[in-house]
Amino acid sequence: MKVLVIGPGGREHAIIRSLLADPVVTEVHAAPGNAGIGELVPTHAINGNDPAAVAALATELAVDLVVVGPEAPLAAGVADAVRAAGIPVFGPDKAAAQLEASKAFAKEIMAEAQVPTAMALVATNADEAASALDTFGAPYVVKDDGLAAGKGVVVTKDRDEALAHAQTCFDAGGTVVIEEFLDGPEVSLFVLCDGQTTVALSPAQDFKRIFDNDEGPNTGGMGAYTPLEWAPPGLVQEVIDRVAQPTVNEMARRGTPFVGVLFVGLALTTRGTRVIEFNVRFGDPETQAVLARLKTPLGSLLLAAAKGELDQIEELRWSKETAVAVVVAAENYPDAPRTGDRIRGLKKVDALDGVHVIHAGTALDADGKVISAGGRVLAVVAVGNDLVAAREKAYDGVELVQLPGSQFRSDIGRKAARNEIKVSAAATGALPITKAKGLV
Ligand code: AMP
Ligand code: GLY
Repeated sequence: MKVLVIGPGGREHAIIRSLLADPVVTEVHAAPGNAGIGELVPTHAINGNDPAAVAALATELAVDLVVVGPEAPLAAGVADAVRAAGIPVFGPDKAAAQLEASKAFAKEIMAEAQVPTAMALVATNADEAASALDTFGAPYVVKDDGLAAGKGVVVTKDRDEALAHAQTCFDAGGTVVIEEFLDGPEVSLFVLCDGQTTVALSPAQDFKRIFDNDEGPNTGGMGAYTPLEWAPPGLVQEVIDRVAQPTVNEMARRGTPFVGVLFVGLALTTRGTRVIEFNVRFGDPETQAVLARLKTPLGSLLLAAAKGELDQIEELRWSKETAVAVVVAAENYPDAPRTGDRIRGLKKVDALDGVHVIHAGTALDADGKVISAGGRVLAVVAVGNDLVAAREKAYDGVELVQLPGSQFRSDIGRKAARNEIKVSAAATGALPITKAKGLV
């Protein structure tokens, strides 16, 4: 089987690494890729967000499957174009990608499918924003309605800061979604979907804020670990039954079936499990950790999803080990990250037992040396017998990475390793969402 993977980041590097371990996968291509991906497979310098260009490349390469990694090409209609060319594609059409591209659309689907989520109001101007903020009270949650690479959300107790973020979005011609604050630990659950059938992967936890102890601004994600020893045993089934399957059913009912991975971001609150957001693609850096434990061959699995055959697959197999991914980010990320610096020490990391490097924002310079080329530069991924062991290995690896000014969080998985995560007894057994006038 020949596969083309679209995307430039860590998630795509991790996907390609797993695809290459699948015996039925004979050839993998990437576009545009990064320095780490280029070490593994041929890369093609096309615009991965251009539907016609991707469909043309997939046709020229005669691939059996296209896997679209990031949200931008999906929202741009890349999957539609590939499907129209008669090639199976893992990733939703543009219409179904609205589940991530528009937070207001996602809320509408959740309301229709009775999916438990935060109450929310859409605001299009400062007056509406002020009134919505006062409806829910502090802490305030203000979300840019469109795609913002994980950085469009402000959670703050400061009403002026909340209003200022809303105003920034209005000034850019956008709208905002303002919602009630959800307390409790967060979980990322990836659910493979073929338009009808849903299959959950192992849950992971992501670390969104830039600094230790969840301080500083939101990022795309600074680290992850999986599985979650502390998660309630019924959680995955509950999310399938109450969230993923109803959502997939509603999308099918609307004639826009969801094919790909529905990434369910959850909060386990004192009032039950709630959806924080939907994404329509694998999470980054959760994927780096989740795929490090998946034993079922990935190529066949993604092809089954693309072809509507998930009901025919065997139960997924997982390593008993724990995986941790720690992101090494550039100086000044998430603002304007410093780029163009040489990265050293990566071979030493890969030489550690059970540890590997996944590239994200990397490129090769004119001399063929690996340099930084983005905010999140790479992740060190480690597997170990338990979370304590996996963390130790991951941080041993991080210490070997040399990149001037780089930053990483030192507390990825630390609370869980210390048994400090508290899950409310109410966290499973979700309450139905409250429907009120004006709420989406
Ligand atoms: P999102 O882009 O919607 O995933 O939001 C990014 C991050 O903001 C989430 O991972 C949460 O940490 C936080 N967040 C989003 N919505 C809420 C909410 N309603 N209550 C509390 N935190 C939230
Ligand atoms: N790590 C969260 C995301 O991919 O959006």
